[in-house]
Amino acid sequence: MTDNRNAPSSISLEHDTPELAETYDRTSDRQFEHGKILVASLNPKPGEHVLDVGAGTGRLAEHVVSLTGPSGRVVAVDPLPLRVELARKRGQGRFETQVAQAEDLSAFPDASFDVVYLNSVFHWVEDKPRALAEARRVLKPGGRLGLNTQNPDRPHELRQFIAEAIAVTGLPFSAAEVQPTVGVPQAELEPLITAAGFSNYIGTLYSFTDFYDGVDALIASSTSSSFGNFLAVLSPEQQARLRQEIERLIETRRTPEGFRFTRHLTFATARA
Ligand SMILES: C[S@@+](CC[C@H](N)C(=O)[O-])C[C@H]1O[C@@H](n2cnc3c(N)ncnc32)[C@H](O)[C@@H]1O
Repeated sequence: MTDNRNAPSSISLEHDTPELAETYDRTSDRQFEHGKILVASLNPKPGEHVLDVGAGTGRLAEHVVSLTGPSGRVVAVDPLPLRVELARKRGQGRFETQVAQAEDLSAFPDASFDVVYLNSVFHWVEDKPRALAEARRVLKPGGRLGLNTQNPDRPHELRQFIAEAIAVTGLPFSAAEVQPTVGVPQAELEPLITAAGFSNYIGTLYSFTDFYDGVDALIASSTSSSFGNFLAVLSPEQQARLRQEIERLIETRRTPEGFRFTRHLTFATARA
């Protein structure tokens, strides 16, 4: 398999479309399920104030509302207006929504939240020190931070297959250009988080097994969860060639339940 360590990549917030946002809302059960694990580790209590950074279409924020109750406050922010709009419709006033990026939480005063979390978001954030400094600033003293991130030392098996397909087709792009993310090696996460002023760091590597119906489900999931960054550098013809090669390669992963892949995420919690 081709090594798929993170190379310099460029994440764009300009590729999202109504269709991608809607597809993400419909196909993000994986993110929702591991998001519930992240939230459980932060234990939001009735009455607490919680900020969901990179909340996407608000599925997890809606779950958190059921934990913080009517006396609590849940705010869901995301830089993509189309996804914030879906979150706003979902919330129907039960949680707040706002267009904002992790690196700039200036809409919120210092020490205004008990819990801040980023679920399936940190590997998309390019200025991680700034995002962590902002999370630290808006957390009350002792407040809890939670995040999960891809780890380039333990790449998602699916990413490895795609990297292999890119190599086999001879497309003039690196795997990092075709599927850009900026994950954090496990060993770098604690120093990054503690440098932002957090303590009580706990990091845990989780592995999950996913099943996909086929190549199109797999591409739809990757494209919508990357808000259009996956495959964005390729022409439609190049995308078709890559799709064909991925379809051929994943045959080895066929099971009666679907095409089977394992992915790994580092979960981290810390206190402000
Ligand atoms: C895979 S989705 C996760 C959405 C949601 N947290 C969930 O659990 O379903 C990644 C999200 O990260 C957001 N994102 C990307 N860059 C970001 C940044 N710099 N700050 C905050 N959110 C960002 C995207 O807009 C997108 O909604």
